Amino acid sequence: MSNIGSYNERIKNFDWSLSEKELEYKEGDIINIGWYCSDRICNMGKADKLALKWEGLGGKEKQYTFNDIRLASNTIGSHLRDLGIKNEDRVCIFLDRIPELYLSFLGILKIGAIAQPLFSAFGDESLHVRLENAETKAIITQRKHVGKVRRILEKLPYLTNIIIVDHDGKKPLKEKETVFSLEEATPVEEFNVFPTKAESPSVLHYTSGTTGQPKGVKHVHYSLISQYLTSKWVLDLQEDDIYWCTADPGWVTGTSYGIIGPWSLGITQCVLDTGFSADAWYKFIEKNKITMWYSAPTAIRSLMKAGDDTVKKYDLSCLRHLASVGEPLNAEAVIWGEKVFGLPFYDTYWQTETGSMMLTNFPEMKIKPGSMGKAFPGITAAIINAKTYEPIAESGIIGLIAFKPDWPAMMRTYWNNEKTYNEKFKNGWYLPGDKAKLDEDGYWWFVGRDDDVINTGGHLISPFEVESALLEHEAVAESAVVAKPDDVNMEVVKAFVVLKPGNNADDEMELNIMNFIRKKLSPLAMPQEIEYIKSLPKTRSGKIMRRILHAQEWGEEIGDTSTLEDEED
Ligand code: WTA
Repeated sequence: MSNIGSYNERIKNFDWSLSEKELEYKEGDIINIGWYCSDRICNMGKADKLALKWEGLGGKEKQYTFNDIRLASNTIGSHLRDLGIKNEDRVCIFLDRIPELYLSFLGILKIGAIAQPLFSAFGDESLHVRLENAETKAIITQRKHVGKVRRILEKLPYLTNIIIVDHDGKKPLKEKETVFSLEEATPVEEFNVFPTKAESPSVLHYTSGTTGQPKGVKHVHYSLISQYLTSKWVLDLQEDDIYWCTADPGWVTGTSYGIIGPWSLGITQCVLDTGFSADAWYKFIEKNKITMWYSAPTAIRSLMKAGDDTVKKYDLSCLRHLASVGEPLNAEAVIWGEKVFGLPFYDTYWQTETGSMMLTNFPEMKIKPGSMGKAFPGITAAIINAKTYEPIAESGIIGLIAFKPDWPAMMRTYWNNEKTYNEKFKNGWYLPGDKAKLDEDGYWWFVGRDDDVINTGGHLISPFEVESALLEHEAVAESAVVAKPDDVNMEVVKAFVVLKPGNNADDEMELNIMNFIRKKLSPLAMPQEIEYIKSLPKTRSGKIMRRILHAQEWGEEIGDTSTLEDEED
């Protein structure tokens, strides 16, 4: 029996107070995600239950009970307090997927500070713009990443503390650096959790748009109400489940459903901090007897590519429920799941800004492979006309995805960027920037993005960020960055470059440019190809028309460029 039971019953008279009641929360109460994910679970008699099973490179393992994560988050929280970090200060977590990442996330929230997780593979520039925008006060990092922080430190006047969690005591510390070791610190048993309220800020995730710098999506502690219930109903997490969310907490899936959802439900979860390989993943599932697995289409397509025989080498009969997020999940992947695991992948659609799942496939609901399913109970969703912003009632018509912004986990603003935040709303609807259509049965089908953002393997890349990095190279006069098709990642980054006179458009130059931008960007944002071009297509007012280059890459009709020019102007 699944947690949700009948979808049709659940949507009748749905009220978020249902989740509030289960969490014993009433309006006006203190609500602190750090406490809910650790102390409360211990208070419920599950102190000795396993919370985290971690595996790193070379098969190194660590395990933590709910009492261990309660103590560890107290200890980290108290260390941050001793350093002078206060509620609402931004604390960046710049770590690989080591246990300290998960534990400091809770510790930061427990002192009422704002957790700002960033992907540890980010290069200097990607890190710099995000720390600068958030006016981040402290950063928790590892020896192997501290060099990046040192190189940009001069440009970050607000950053007062660099905390290294794995210092070996050998190399001298530099300006603003201190050492913290969870293993050596005295565990803090009694801790005053900061009395955050529903609207107190909790997490700041950075996401990329088409233009401008990445935006800091501000979430609040009340987001727990949505994250808890969606984890319970869609991921169907149950007491004895062993759960694996494959996402890195540098992205929203890794926090909403890789920390908050499972731990607020008191579920055991596993983390694998190694690179991807089909064998390593299957082995991990088999060894840990994973029952519930939340992953992403690119990973699933990579597994499909590795072949069915690889699956057969392992006993994966422990699996009972699979779900996916981040990009369009093609019908073939759903069907493949049924063939090799005896289970389909349940697609879920949402984004950094929404904080929790919006469109979902539920256990006990008929899956239509390739469809995103239906709106989660309590979510008012519509396809709206891109010009009038009025809902389209008929099925089969493509329009913009739109949500009434009234669910608990909705972002509260973009950090220091209220203007862009306000632009995301039209006619009372929140527009996530995607296009879709409905079928006769009310199922949602993804059509594409409504902007130039590139979704490569589930990671959103701003063409602007890559173009800016390219433009800093001395030989580059102009650049335009678009998606090009790819079998596994669906989209990869392609750069068009106009060179300044006197430079040779050859392989050596390409290598030189690639090496230059590699230091600035994350590996995910790196172009797979650079094409030299004499000039870029532009509107009359001089804006680059990425859409024309995009259409060329995808073999699509370019259409009437004169109207395109008007549109873009
Ligand atoms: C895309 C990830 C198709 C979409 C949680 C969205 C999807 C963006 C799906 C958010 C899906 C996410 N089918 N596309 N099931 N899920 N997307 O902010 O374009 O990293 O707006 O959040 O990914 O990406 P983000």
